[in-house]
Amino acid sequence: MTIDPELFDRLKAMAVSAAGHSHSPYSRFRVGAAVSSVSGAAYSGCNVENASFGLTQCAERAALTAAVSAGEAPGSLQFLVLYIPGTEAHPPCGACRQVMRELMSEDSMVWSTCDSEDVRSWSAAEYLPDPFTPESLQR
Ligand code: THU
Repeated sequence: MTIDPELFDRLKAMAVSAAGHSHSPYSRFRVGAAVSSVSGAAYSGCNVENASFGLTQCAERAALTAAVSAGEAPGSLQFLVLYIPGTEAHPPCGACRQVMRELMSEDSMVWSTCDSEDVRSWSAAEYLPDPFTPESLQR
């Protein structure tokens, strides 16, 4: 699956902007993400930490939650761009991969970006092979 370079740039700009709102006083890891729908709409989120550390929400899940809250149906979300400041593109965490698999399309793609030209990308099969899915609940 390919992405229009203009959409990619738009999602990266949204992710960078969202990272500016990161609430990360504990890790000082300021993360942003933006996800687009097949409709062309896009939604962003940042990581939101808590003094009770386990309550931290990652940027990817914040963006996906914003999309669903705005009315996006599961499966309508196609492209997600993650931004983590620094010179190296980092992979998304495992919890976010599970949520991406449930809410994004089967042909979805995820990119990780940073402040250098380094970019990494994953298809759905790559970011979560052999997933536990809603179908797994059918008995
Ligand atoms: N974080 C994300 O927002 N996304 C990821 O995929 C990895 C980690 C956040 C969670 C926490 O606030 C900080 O980065 C350090 O783990």
